[in-house]
Formats: sequence, structure tokens, C-alpha cells
Amino acid sequence: MRTAVFSKDYEGVDYERFWTGPGKQYLDRLEQKILRHTLPVGESIVEIGSGFGRLAPCYVDRYREVHMVEPASNLREAAMNVFGDRVHYHDASVYELPFAGNSFDTALMVRVFHHLHNSVAALQELHRILRPGGTLVVSYSNLHNPGRIVRFLLGRVPNPFASDKQEYAADLFGHAPSHMRAMLKQSGFALHEQYATCILSPIINRVPVLGRFDPPLSLERVLGAVDLAPAVFVVAQKK
Ligand SMILES: C[S@@+](CC[C@H](N)C(=O)[O-])C[C@H]1O[C@@H](n2cnc3c(N)ncnc32)[C@H](O)[C@@H]1O
Repeated sequence: MRTAVFSKDYEGVDYERFWTGPGKQYLDRLEQKILRHTLPVGESIVEIGSGFGRLAPCYVDRYREVHMVEPASNLREAAMNVFGDRVHYHDASVYELPFAGNSFDTALMVRVFHHLHNSVAALQELHRILRPGGTLVVSYSNLHNPGRIVRFLLGRVPNPFASDKQEYAADLFGHAPSHMRAMLKQSGFALHEQYATCILSPIINRVPVLGRFDPPLSLERVLGAVDLAPAVFVVAQKK
């Protein structure tokens, strides 16, 4: 049953280890910078697939009511150990959120979308729990990114120019930007802005000194708009 509900099972995974090394540290800082800038002022927020609470410092003190949804018990417990009773924790899936309709001002889902088999069902559920005008910040993996295109030209991966989505590996999907926008629209969201991420992190792993360069968010926004970044943060509003 778990595989039908949870696209990728992180139970027992040491996800904190993923965030080690100069490239990942740089990426973590960049993602947090984007969130500190984009998360609006509001009363209530829910993060879906919150992991060990890596991104919680961006929002935990900005909202009166804070919820985290995380199916992996070890990651939920790691977050509990840091944020304690400041946060409400839920063992649930994005497909079936344990909240009434119109409950939240803001919903956040980072690095989860690429694991989901039913993207539209997830977006519709996020739409249900947000208040009208509420903000969704969601990241996705861009199928049309230059690294993948080069690997295709070298014969290493299938043609990435699909117009919808492609499974890179088991439980790991890339989406075409136009398809992502169409799904958001179909699910009742209006796109507000997009930010590019993951561009420099592989290079910084090889040349760590580059990690000291702190790119302005305006650059990430411009790169996000041209649909070439490996990963994209989308900010959208519930219509
Ligand atoms: C790559 S981790 C990202 C964690 C966190 N968002 C971050 O960026 O640090 C993916 C997370 O999504 C969670 N997840 C996987 N399938 C899910 C689902 N159907 N509903 C909610 N969370 C899910 C996993 O348990 C895991 O914590």
C-alpha cells in the first residue's frame, strides 16, 4: 500500500547526509534565500514532505500556526527534536492531507514533486487546503535542462524533449515547464513567479571557492523565466 501512496519511501533514509559538501551547502543557502523572499506574511503555513525540517528556519517564526507533513518517521522525529511543540507534525501523504478545505495561507512543497506519480492529484489536494488567494511554493525538476540535453546528445539518456514528463529513474520524474504550468492552471492556480536553482552546485563541488559568490535573486528570477534551470521554484496563487 505504501508504494501507491508514497512515491518514494524515505523511511530510514539519512537524508541529512545528502546536504553535505560545498555544492549542496550552496544550494541549501540559495533555496532558503528564495523562500525567505517568497513566503508571504500570513497566519498559517504547511510544509508537505518537510523531511528533517531543513527549510523550517525560513518560516517557523513567521507564522502563528505551523504544520509539517512528513511520512518518514525518522525524518519527522528529527524535525520534532529541533522544533518541538512550535510545530504540528503529521504522518500523511500529499494525496490525502489531514486538513479541512481552505485551511492555510501558505503551502510549501520542495523536492517532493519529482517523486510523485500523480502530479495533478497532488496539486488539486494542495489547492483544496489553501484559502482563496493563498500561496503555493513548489519546486520541480525541469526535464528540459541543459545537462540532460547534453547527456541525450551523448546518447546517455532518452530524448528529454517530451512535452509532459519523463521518469529519469524509479520514482524520479522530470516535468516540461509548459506541462508544469498547464497542470498548475488546470488545478486552479495562477502562476506568480519562478526561480532557477541547481545551476552552479555541480560546478561548486569541483571549485568550492565559487560557493562564496552569492547571486542576486533577480538573476535566479530571470533564469527561472527562461525555463533552462535544472530545478525551478514556482510561486503560485490559488484562484
Ligand atoms: C528529497 S526529500 C525533501 C525533503 C525536504 N522538502 C527538503 O527539501 O529538505 C523528499 C521528501 O518527500 C517526502 N515524500 C515522499 N512522498 C511523499 C508524499 N506522497 N507525500 C508527502 N511527502 C512525501 C519524503 O518522505 C521526503 O521527506
